[in-house]
Amino acid sequence: MFFISVSSRKDRGIISMDEFVFARVVHVLGVVLWIGGVAMVTTVLIPAMAQMRSASERTDFFARIEGRFAPQARVVTLLVGLSGFYMVHFLNAWSRFTELRFWWMHAMVLVWVIFTLMLFVVEPLVLRKQIPKTAQHDAEKTFRRMRRMHWILLSLSLITIAGAVAGSHGWMLRGE
Ligand code: HEM
Repeated sequence: MFFISVSSRKDRGIISMDEFVFARVVHVLGVVLWIGGVAMVTTVLIPAMAQMRSASERTDFFARIEGRFAPQARVVTLLVGLSGFYMVHFLNAWSRFTELRFWWMHAMVLVWVIFTLMLFVVEPLVLRKQIPKTAQHDAEKTFRRMRRMHWILLSLSLITIAGAVAGSHGWMLRGE
């Protein structure tokens, strides 16, 4: 059904709308995989780690999990960014960034920039080298900080998703 609709639109020369819909599909799938993973880490894995007895047990466990999630999150972050900027370009919606009622557009870019910096700069260049060297007495402090950061980022992401879905379907802060 979908393919029939795409090819008939192609024949009529309006394929770009399909490209926009495709970008939206990629964008939303990326957000689900990415923020879903962050929610899993924050609400399930980190509380499970809190029950572990030693700091070294926690560090090993986190390194194993993170080693699998980070590469996946990097690819997905790139896809979300590419599809997002493509949609801004397609909609010619750059002026939205000058209006407060499109706060959810700023929030999307903010969340994306924070995670991009974490995944591509802070994690590989700073954390990967620092965490194994962290002394036993600092490990507890590092773990608490990591737990707090995950909750802050997850909350910010969920507020952003709620705002983006509501906003892109016409539910604005003030009028149209
Ligand atoms: C570079 C970063 C990003 C850009 C440029 C961007 C851009 C966009 C654009 C242009 C739309 C369509 C708006 C419309 O139809 O009026 C959109 C939709 C959306 N974005 Fe983003 N986005 C980015 C990152 C994110 C992030 C990090 C999240 C999640 C935390 C996110 C979640 C969503 C959601 C949930 C929608 C609504 C989809 C729907 O209901 O159909 N975006 N984004």
